[in-house]
Amino acid sequence: MTTIEMSVRPEDLSQVPHGHERIPEPGIMVIFGASGDLTKRKLLPALFHLEQAGLLPDKFAIVGVARRPLGDEFAEDMHEGILSFGSVDKGDPKLGNFVKKINYFPLKFDDPADYIGLKEELDRIAQEKNIGGRRLFYLATAPEFFAGIVENLGAQGMAHPEKGNVAVVIEKPFGHDLESARALNLQVNAVFDESQVFRIDHYLGKETVQNILVFRFANGIFEPIWNRNYIDHVQITVAETLGVEGRGPFYEKAGALRDVVQNHMMELLSLVALEPPSSFEAESVRREKLKVWRAIPSIPILNVVRGQYGPGLVDGQHVAGYREEERVSPQSGTETYAAVKLEIENWRWAGVPFYLRAGKRLEKRATEISIQFKQPPLLIFDRLAQSSACQVIKPNLLTIRIQPDEGIALRFGAKVPTTPEMAVCPVNMDFDYAEAFGKSSANGYERLLMDAMLGDQTLFSHRDGVETNWALYTPILEAWAAKNPEKFPNYAAGSWGPECADHLIASGGHAWRNDLGRKA
Ligand code: BG6
Repeated sequence: MTTIEMSVRPEDLSQVPHGHERIPEPGIMVIFGASGDLTKRKLLPALFHLEQAGLLPDKFAIVGVARRPLGDEFAEDMHEGILSFGSVDKGDPKLGNFVKKINYFPLKFDDPADYIGLKEELDRIAQEKNIGGRRLFYLATAPEFFAGIVENLGAQGMAHPEKGNVAVVIEKPFGHDLESARALNLQVNAVFDESQVFRIDHYLGKETVQNILVFRFANGIFEPIWNRNYIDHVQITVAETLGVEGRGPFYEKAGALRDVVQNHMMELLSLVALEPPSSFEAESVRREKLKVWRAIPSIPILNVVRGQYGPGLVDGQHVAGYREEERVSPQSGTETYAAVKLEIENWRWAGVPFYLRAGKRLEKRATEISIQFKQPPLLIFDRLAQSSACQVIKPNLLTIRIQPDEGIALRFGAKVPTTPEMAVCPVNMDFDYAEAFGKSSANGYERLLMDAMLGDQTLFSHRDGVETNWALYTPILEAWAAKNPEKFPNYAAGSWGPECADHLIASGGHAWRNDLGRKA
């Protein structure tokens, strides 16, 4: 295995060069649903990483908003979250001052009167700290509150950018089907202009996901072969070993197709498949992604399969089946696994199958994209290779490891040394993020929060993109809802998913790659 040499080794975010133009203006970030896990585990650690790197303005405040009547214990809880989930040293010299910027305001999301109080509180903080009118509203509540919060912010005049820029960040899920997504878009756009709306998909904050575009368009050697003439098929896998982790009520309504395939995986697919954008500006990138999604013809129901895990062994531990999980129906028909076969009908991709699969409680945690190239037209070493220790010649395979073991590998055949015959063995050329750049404690939200504060929408979903993806998957969700699966559970926890998924990919003459992760 060869490791690609890198000339720079920035160890963490603080060493990434930045200019003053990348520091947002003074402002207040208001997090709705702040008592939930996301704030403590991801948002506050990410904000503190930005502070450590000197990327936050001096005049900055955070206001957590939730229903619970909390006081100072909120800031204390966030402090703890920063230490444990942000890998921060408790003696960090910037921590004490940062925690002083954290405030809390109790509010009932659906009570208009509470928003009058919120406005007064934000004005008071802004005046006391000389912060000005810039606001970033982050909606991390349960999705049923999104529309009401937006409406109330509008009614109290908090959405208008007269006194500075105002933006709203909306967490997923954005709707639960096409109709609800359309309705939510209308409600949001009745208050905020589309240029103020940041629909978040945390996958786009991952370095390895952003690197797909860099890999394709900052290098000259892959693009000429990145098409139907050279690529046999593409597989995208989001495999998790975790189950639903106490999120039963949420997951019962979501399922794997809504939770992961329709958003995260379709984003990954668009980055693999899009045409070169004219620049890395929001409009160009979003336009190219939209063209990919719109080129996908409606997906026949036979090209989608679903699964649900039963009890099994994960990492040597016995785990319960989905139907035995906390607050899950014992007759649940919710899928914890989904696999899809689709095609992109354009000149670059016509005839190349894309296989997507996502599942919980699978054998291994791995999010990977693999691009399998076609076999050479004439396998002159094939007969010899079969007679040797090194089995059949495998086609070239490019794997993009999104997580864990972040990196990229290219498999090719090499002559086995010292054998008298021409024995060929597959080997890997491997780039590993941690080896090349050092390990980072960033969780992906750093980049997204920063971009939202700076008003850069490139890594956020546009209204049209969200609706196009819902339009693709809503007919499947409806067909599934109309017919309860008969054979659930249909895969054991700790396996690679249901048999029907193997049949799906076999129908195209392919097989799932289950040897995911970095090869030693
Ligand atoms: C979330 C889903 O959006 O993504 C979760 O709601 C899933 O169910 C998670 O576990 C996966 O994210 P990551 O970053 O761990 O791959």
